[in-house]
Amino acid sequence: MKHLVTLIPGDGIGPEVTAATLRVLSAAGVDITWERFPAGAQALAEHGTTLPDALLSSIRRTRVALKGPVTTPVGGGFTSVNVGLRKALDLYANVRPVKSIPGVRTRYENVDLVVVRENTEDLYSGLEHVVVPGVVESLKVITERASTRIARFACDYARKHGRRKVTVVHKANIMKLSDGLFLDCFRKVVQHYPEVQPEEKIVDNMCMQLVMHPERYDVLLMENLYGDILSDLATGLVGGLGVVPGANIGDGMAVFEAVHGSAPDIAGRGLANPTAMILSATMMLRYIEENQAADRIEAALFAVLGEDGIKTPDLGGTATTTEFTEAIATRLTDN
Ligand code: NAI
Ligand code: MG
Repeated sequence: MKHLVTLIPGDGIGPEVTAATLRVLSAAGVDITWERFPAGAQALAEHGTTLPDALLSSIRRTRVALKGPVTTPVGGGFTSVNVGLRKALDLYANVRPVKSIPGVRTRYENVDLVVVRENTEDLYSGLEHVVVPGVVESLKVITERASTRIARFACDYARKHGRRKVTVVHKANIMKLSDGLFLDCFRKVVQHYPEVQPEEKIVDNMCMQLVMHPERYDVLLMENLYGDILSDLATGLVGGLGVVPGANIGDGMAVFEAVHGSAPDIAGRGLANPTAMILSATMMLRYIEENQAADRIEAALFAVLGEDGIKTPDLGGTATTTEFTEAIATRLTDN
């Protein structure tokens, strides 16, 4: 079947990992027509805005996008395109499967957890102001509506994927009203899922638990900020930012992107690991019901990492982005 998908190559290592992913998708024979758009600094220079309307309307039409990382300047400059995109399209669930990968050696062997992050509110509301010089307020917004729908999403995800446990991560001991509401919504929702074992963990303890015993966790549900931080932590359990994919999911619409950012420290040098982006594309393929192609790509990728031992430098290897990508493409076209 022919598919139409919006593509945002991004910046920094974005164009490199995107090119690698397109190469692998075409070697797998998937028939996709891409609607390609810049975002962030490049879009600002070319179109006068970081998030062009044409890009948003493309995703509203195609219902699915593949996105490379986009740089957000620290301090002045512009607000995050990534946060803006998730809010504009109400992509309320950020799903990041963190799984041990064949051939990628870490301190842990059997990590298989999924971070489900609320994607539209919390301290990412963008509501900050100077009260008086030297005093700043930043507003954390938590609503019953968003907390309930993400709790439902996490429980539905657990049910659909045969996962046993959903752990809600919070700091309701200190933020009694905001995190208290998030926790309460989860407690109410999970009652309707008898097959899901609920668990509650305070976020600081959760960080320690993840480093000590990651294999004990299954689905982790959290607010936006904790989800951002803990998902980077979780990538470190399975090989780092180069290997963990993600999806931003709304009602009938989804944008797939790696957990990692634009990695300016390694951009343009052939050092980027495209694994996270390729795995994001396999999540996308499953979303558009190209399951067989997704299986084939994953098998080829894992064979290159595991059996062939071909790896980029972040995983201790010496392969360039292109060498690694061509090894996957060869596996796909040979089989
Ligand atoms: P980062 O994720 O870009 O990089 C952190 C570290 O991981 C760096 O040392 C980098 O070289 C390494 N790394 C990341 N991805 C890699 C890959 N695929 N292969 C090999 N090494 C990899 O985080 P950082 O440096 O904090 O952020 C850089 C920029 O990215 C910032 O402007 C930030 O706002 C943006 N960003 C964008 C995201 C998005 O578009 N969804 C997500 C996270 C950050
Ligand atoms: Mg992040």
